[in-house]
Parts: sequence; C-alpha cells; structure tokens
Amino acid sequence: MDPFVPAGPSPASSVAPVRFALVGCGTIAATQAQALREIPELACLTHCTDVDATLARAFADRFGLSAIPWEEVLRHPEIDALTLCTPSGLHSPLGAAALAAGKHVLIEKPMDVNVAACDALLAAQASSGRQLAVISQHRFDPASQAVHRSIQNNELGRLFAVDARVPWFRSQEYYDSGAWRGTLTLDGGGCLMNQGIHTVDLMLWLAGPVSEVFARTATAAHERIEVEDLVCATLTFANGALGTLFASTATYPGFPARLALHGTEGTAILEGDELHTLAIRGREPITGTAASAHALQVSGGGTRSAVHHADNARAAGEDTRWKWGDAHRAQFADFIAAIRENRRPAVSGHDGRAAVALIQAVYESARTGHPVRPA
Ligand SMILES: NC(=O)c1ccc[n+]([C@@H]2O[C@H](COP(=O)([O-])OP(=O)(O)OC[C@H]3O[C@@H](n4cnc5c(N)ncnc54)[C@H](O)[C@@H]3O)[C@@H](O)[C@H]2O)c1
Repeated sequence: MDPFVPAGPSPASSVAPVRFALVGCGTIAATQAQALREIPELACLTHCTDVDATLARAFADRFGLSAIPWEEVLRHPEIDALTLCTPSGLHSPLGAAALAAGKHVLIEKPMDVNVAACDALLAAQASSGRQLAVISQHRFDPASQAVHRSIQNNELGRLFAVDARVPWFRSQEYYDSGAWRGTLTLDGGGCLMNQGIHTVDLMLWLAGPVSEVFARTATAAHERIEVEDLVCATLTFANGALGTLFASTATYPGFPARLALHGTEGTAILEGDELHTLAIRGREPITGTAASAHALQVSGGGTRSAVHHADNARAAGEDTRWKWGDAHRAQFADFIAAIRENRRPAVSGHDGRAAVALIQAVYESARTGHPVRPA
C-alpha cells in the first residue's frame, strides 16, 4: 500500500464543523451543496466560486452562500477545505494551488485526466500537510460496502474473474452542453474517463490492482467529440484473475452499470447501486430485494457516521431508501473524519491516481494495439 503522508495541524478545530468553499457551480455542485447541508454538525458550506460570476451568484443565492473570486477563496482564513467541481482537466492545478494555500482538498472524479497531473497533485499534497481525497461515492453505497466486507472476510474465496460493464447513454446534446465535454484536454477521455471511472474504481478497490490491459476503443455514435464512446478491454489482475471491461455512452437508452466478481467460493454482483446477487457456496443465494436488504443490514446502512441523516429520517418515518446524494454525503463525512483524526481518507489521492492510470493504460493500448501495464 502507498504510504500515508500524515497531515500537519488542521486549520479546523477538532470539534467545529469544517468550513467548505465549493469551486465550480455547475451540474454536480448542487448535489454536493445539498449533501453538505445534511451534515451541519460536521460541515458548513459558506462560500462558492466560478469563472462565471453570474452562475456563482445564482448558486450562492440558492444555497445561502457568499460568492467570491478564486483568489479570495485561497486567502480566506475562515475556509478550511475546498471541494472542486470544475472540469476534470483543471483539478490538479486548482487542487495544488489550494493545498499550497493551506486548504484541505476534495476533488470530484476523475482526480485529473492523466497520471502526470495526478502525480503533480500528490507532490503538492505531500509538501502541504493537508488532506486530499477524490470523490468516488459509489464505494459508500451499502451494496459496495457489503461486497467489500464479503471479500475482506474471504467469503468469495480466491477471486479469479471480474466482469465490469457500463452500458450507459449520453446524448449528443449532453456533449454539446459544455465546451469542455468530450475534449481531450479537459474531459481527458469519454465513456471511461468520465462515466466508467466509477466502476473502474470499485473494481480496483474490490479486486485489487490490474497488471496488464489490452483494449480497443471507438467513437461509435457521437459527433464533434475528441474522445471514445465505446471501450472493450481485457484485464489481467495482479493476483492472476482475468477480467473484461466494457464501457459506452452510446448504448441507447442506457442500462445499469454491473460489476460481477467471481471467486472459488462464490459470486457477488453489483448492479446499479444495488447488490444484485450474493451467492456463496453452501449458503442460500440472495438476490433482488433480499440482496438489497442484506446489503443495508451488513453495512449498518452504509457507514454509520455517514448515514445518520438516513437514520434520523427513518426515525421520522420518511423514505429511507439509499438514493442519489446519500453517497456524496457519506464521502464528505469520511473526508471530514480523515481531517479530524489525521488519517487516510477512504478514497485517497493514490486511489484516484490508480483509476486514472488504468484508464490511461486502456487508451494507450487502444492507440498502440499492444498490451499495456498501468503506470
Ligand atoms: N461524482 C459524480 O457522480 C459526478 C457527476 C457529475 C460530474 N462529476 C464531475 O464533476 C466535475 C464537474 O462536472 P459538471 O458536470 O458539474 O460540469 P459543469 O460544466 O456542469 O460545471 C463545471 C463548472 O466549473 C466552472 N469552472 C470552469 N473553470 C473554472 C475555474 N477555473 N474556476 C472555477 N470554476 C470553473 C464552470 O463555469 C462550470 O460552472 C467533473 O470533473 C465531473 O467528472 C462527478
């Protein structure tokens, strides 16, 4: 495992809520602002910024924040941490500037669009003594937590095969909706770098590192994009397991992502955000709603500190199904705990780099026609 660089003294007191500013007030920003609102004893979102000042002001009005310029965010003594929701290819330079200014940094996936940029950010963190984490919220889904626990307990035996599929759909209008979307410089890739990375990160977390990739990619059904909308790859894992990886944003109308892990003692299948199947030799296999209930039960409803909002909601008789936004809230809670306890966050900068390195190896293999080892 990569070394954890202990953080220096936190600018936040050990008990006061960590004071956040949000950078980039676009699509994902509202999910994040709402998630932070739901953990007031842990976090306080006070400021936002965007290169589009009108957008920043509208976002500030909506969430009761102060919109301020980027330079002021960096200087502001009452901002402890930044959450970066900007186009992907800006994550490393903005994150490095924030770390140098003494802020803790949480970055939306992907960490950046290539390994060199990720390494620059890791170097910036090492010299800053501040925390760095990368959003990969699906690790916090109860289903993912339950499968992780099964693997930790060796219930599946030795993993020998992995089947990862992300048959999603994004319209041409989606790619046309932002100048950065579908560009090599700022999106860094297409269906794998932007969308499939969620499943890539889950796969690496659950099945371990990949030692070699052989891939083909295509731009099959979109125009005016520089990136792929189709990926077919075979993988060799460091433990000898073999895997397949399929990702697309061209498979109309889009289907749930699916990750199947096959071991000598059983199989676990995640589909969408749910546990689809857990079948362990000698036990009754569980599927469907029983599997979802099992995941909630064994994961304690996700991570306890992360889902206290759901606990409160349950007590108040509200709908407590795991839903969009819950996993972001869980990851914020973990990031704040990492700051307070000076421990590694669940999804560290090294984890963020590993997902980008695998995806870069896929692109390199498709470009050269040769197998590639991830950097
Ligand atoms: N975790 C998830 O499920 C999830 C979902 C969607 C997007 N994302 C990630 O979030 C990031 C943003 O995606 P989005 O869809 O919200 O994009 P978006 O285009 O909707 O929003 C990006 C915002 O950043 C602003 N911006 C650009 N340059 C800036 C700068 N230098 N400083 C400040 N603001 C700047 C833009 O004006 C825009 O408002 C991407 O990295 C994407 O991969 C993650």
